[in-house]
Amino acid sequence: MNDPTPPFAAPVGTHDVLGPASAQWEGLISRFADWTYRYGFSLVLTPIFEDEGVFSRGIGEGSDVFRKEMYVFEDRGKRRYALRPEGTASVVRAFVQHRPTTPWKAWYVTPAFRYERPQKGRYRQHHQLGVEVIGTDDPAVDVEVIALADGFYRSIGLERLRLLINSMGHGACRAAYLAALSEYLEGHELSLCDEHRTQWRRNALRVLDCKRPECVTVTDAGPFLVDWLCEPCRAHFDAVVGGLAEVGISGTLSPRLVRGFDYYTRTTFEFVSDALDGAQNAVGGGGRYDGLTERLGGPPTSGVGFGSGVERLLLARTAEGRVDPLIERTLDVFVVDGGEGGPIGPLVERLRRAGLAVERAYDGRSLKAQMKVADRSGARLALLVGTEGPGSTVTIRDLRASESTQQRVPEHELVEALTDRLTKTRL
Ligand code: HAM
Repeated sequence: MNDPTPPFAAPVGTHDVLGPASAQWEGLISRFADWTYRYGFSLVLTPIFEDEGVFSRGIGEGSDVFRKEMYVFEDRGKRRYALRPEGTASVVRAFVQHRPTTPWKAWYVTPAFRYERPQKGRYRQHHQLGVEVIGTDDPAVDVEVIALADGFYRSIGLERLRLLINSMGHGACRAAYLAALSEYLEGHELSLCDEHRTQWRRNALRVLDCKRPECVTVTDAGPFLVDWLCEPCRAHFDAVVGGLAEVGISGTLSPRLVRGFDYYTRTTFEFVSDALDGAQNAVGGGGRYDGLTERLGGPPTSGVGFGSGVERLLLARTAEGRVDPLIERTLDVFVVDGGEGGPIGPLVERLRRAGLAVERAYDGRSLKAQMKVADRSGARLALLVGTEGPGSTVTIRDLRASESTQQRVPEHELVEALTDRLTKTRL
């Protein structure tokens, strides 16, 4: 009989991740944790929902994400909350609340929620690995953050990557540029795409981000922010580009790279993968946000960071032919119960406490059925217990070789014998 269709499935644009595929997630997250540790970061955990104001002020009411993609709800106490669409605003909110010693270096792994049109590489719930450094505007930190991203990406096997970099200026030069851009767009309003013809006044920078040919043609001939940088912003940008060159990282200046949130100042960057489809090819992006702490009620404090989509990183790895999980997640031993030696539970427990990854079958299955499960489990070794009546020897069988590799061992020497065999099968 066919199973009926279950009444529920994961919501549109979200995914369940089950083993063995989830091993890649574990591998990626622990590899990222290792990299952040090398650069002096510690893990930060913040709630998955925040007062809506954290995002209206943080990422900006004019940003597309805030206007079109937020998951906002009212709780039973009539408070307006939002599921986080990204990690930075929450981390900065936590900084303002707790005021840790600066420079504060925090890393995170978090789900993020955006009401997007789901497609490959674009989801309504995605997951980000990210870092933030709060409390210094030293260009050396921008370099470190970009170098961390680059080193991490390469360590997981991504090679077809390009770094795009830009500066958004800050304060006076940004304001002067925005005035010039607005004047320019006003004169070319009728040539913009349908959306931006009416919307550009809300946030002129968004037009630079627009991929539609009408907007690209107009903005190509207009002013770009990098040409308007004031002396300190120019010096900062030059120091970042110079510092990257010193550590062997080259980027391409990308004057259109204004990024989607209102908090960015000075350095912005993105890593794109040429192994992925154009529209969803950014595996990570970030930049500096020197005004964000104040927007969230804190003292003027600089910050810089980046976030990377776990799903996109995995897609890019697959596209580059890398499917290894980056982490050892194979069973060592499958214990098969021959049924004549008493309960196997205590033995299984002893092996697990000795540090081995051990699985067994349940429900009193036949020997043949258990061997089938053992074969499918991916374990390196099977341990046959109680197949020849009660006794103190057990049989180790190599599941990846022929039967001739069976070995009988007294129970009290079992852990040593297994460890020895496992070391050999790993070689
Ligand atoms: P973002 O560029 O919006 O930046 O997102 C960072 C990364 O998350 C993207 O490069 C992409 O890999 C992934 N991503 C974003 N949206 C989706 C989606 N709908 N589906 C799948 N993956 C997605 C930020 O969120 C900033 N908070 C980064 C940052 C940190 N800036 C400074 N510090």
